[in-house]
Amino acid sequence: MEDRILIADDETQIRNILNKLLEKAGYEVQSASNGGKTLEHADSFHPHVLLLDQCMPDMDGMDILKNIKDQHPETMVIMITAYGAVDKAVEAIKLGAYDYVEKPFDNDKLIALINKASNHSKVLIENQQLKQQISGKYDFSNIIGVSDKMHAVFDQVKSVCSTDASVLILGESGVGKELIAKSIHYNSNRKGYPFVGVNCGAIPLELMESELFGHEKGAFTDAKETKKGRFEQAHNGSLFLDEIGELRMDAQVKLLRVLEDKKVSRLGGKKSISVDVRIISATNCNLEEKIDQNQFRLDLYYRLNIFTIRIPPLRERPEDIPSLIGHFIKKYNQSVGLQVENVSPQAMETLYHYQWPGNIRDLENAIQSAMIMAREGTIQKQHLPIRCKADADPRKDHEEPIPGLAARSSEINDQAEKQMLVEALKKCNYKRGDTAQYLKVSRKTLYNKMKKFGLLA
Ligand SMILES: Nc1ncnc2c1ncn2[C@@H]1O[C@H](COP(=O)(O)OP(=O)(O)OP(=O)(O)O)[C@@H](O)[C@H]1O
Ligand SMILES: [Mg+2]
Repeated sequence: MEDRILIADDETQIRNILNKLLEKAGYEVQSASNGGKTLEHADSFHPHVLLLDQCMPDMDGMDILKNIKDQHPETMVIMITAYGAVDKAVEAIKLGAYDYVEKPFDNDKLIALINKASNHSKVLIENQQLKQQISGKYDFSNIIGVSDKMHAVFDQVKSVCSTDASVLILGESGVGKELIAKSIHYNSNRKGYPFVGVNCGAIPLELMESELFGHEKGAFTDAKETKKGRFEQAHNGSLFLDEIGELRMDAQVKLLRVLEDKKVSRLGGKKSISVDVRIISATNCNLEEKIDQNQFRLDLYYRLNIFTIRIPPLRERPEDIPSLIGHFIKKYNQSVGLQVENVSPQAMETLYHYQWPGNIRDLENAIQSAMIMAREGTIQKQHLPIRCKADADPRKDHEEPIPGLAARSSEINDQAEKQMLVEALKKCNYKRGDTAQYLKVSRKTLYNKMKKFGLLA
């Protein structure tokens, strides 16, 4: 693709000279002799660069510039100004012109400048295309849900995405909280700006502050360079505060202040920087319980929770399972180059009735591994991970196997079982009730297993 340059000048001689010069340099060139024609050509020719004479017979050069920046932000405008008219040039640059050249111009310098501007325009166009692709990725067609419960979620997303309201997304691990957060952003009018995620894990205050608000060089021992925080990075876009329930109380105070003031100061910095961000937060814990236990601030909760979206766990909407399976089969056939066609009725039945403690992420992993086992044709029950085949009933209070763990323990040793237990405990903050629920076993079984592996404190 040749770079397209539009010349806008009322003097025929200048147009001819520039035309020849630029065609010789390999550009595709069009020219216009007045403002009206310039705007027309801009619409049809989509120039990468517009060389615009500041004095046109029918329109003020600045008005043409404003119009182009508004309608064709990817077109770089280089103003041609009379010798010595620096103030006009400065004004043009303030209005968004890429640069200016003074008459009479030096041909080589002019070509070099056009080259630079044209490359800049191409980068902008490429970014726009990427952003469109990304937003395609988060349009509703890639978020699967046929159940009434998911349709209710989609309706909520649609009604909130065009506003600036803070959204709190609730749901168990792996239900699609981040996917919904991104779909809110990419369907909002902030979609041309960044979606920035930050994990609010229980890290020390100073690190959290530096992560969220940035720091100046030398603010603390390891601050070797000035760094922008996530708030600044998300300016004009959306900030996704993931696992907000884990944020320490001292960091909650700082966060609240920034949300109220809409200004951040970097650690060790004096100036306050205005930020315009839409806050989307997510958690899999019960914030109201945390508030009761004085582990979460009520005022922060009110700020974050202008609008709540609760994503139901997969076991409450099993009718979504077949379409999700179809979606993942298509996805991995494409990305890994497999030729899996469908799922046998027995395998589907098993997948449909499994409780999916890890929700959609878990289902996705199960389908991926079954596809690798099957490689082509039909996924049979024997291709499914063992955990999906073990029927678990968490209500039983006698010692029952941990689905997956017990079955695997004949294949792999106790060490692996212990490790999974430790990981589950860690994930659930060492709360036994939550861990038992997570593993789908009774508290008693959990206790026995912990005892067996010497994990009782
Ligand atoms: N409705 C859906 N349609 C298609 N894919 C989905 C859907 N929901 C979730 N997924 C996929 O499942 C995986 C987990 O989703 P996501 O990371 O959004 O969950 P999460 O709730 O943020 O999990 P965690 O609490 O563990 O952080 C991702 O690969 C996501 O693309
Ligand atoms: Mg997540």
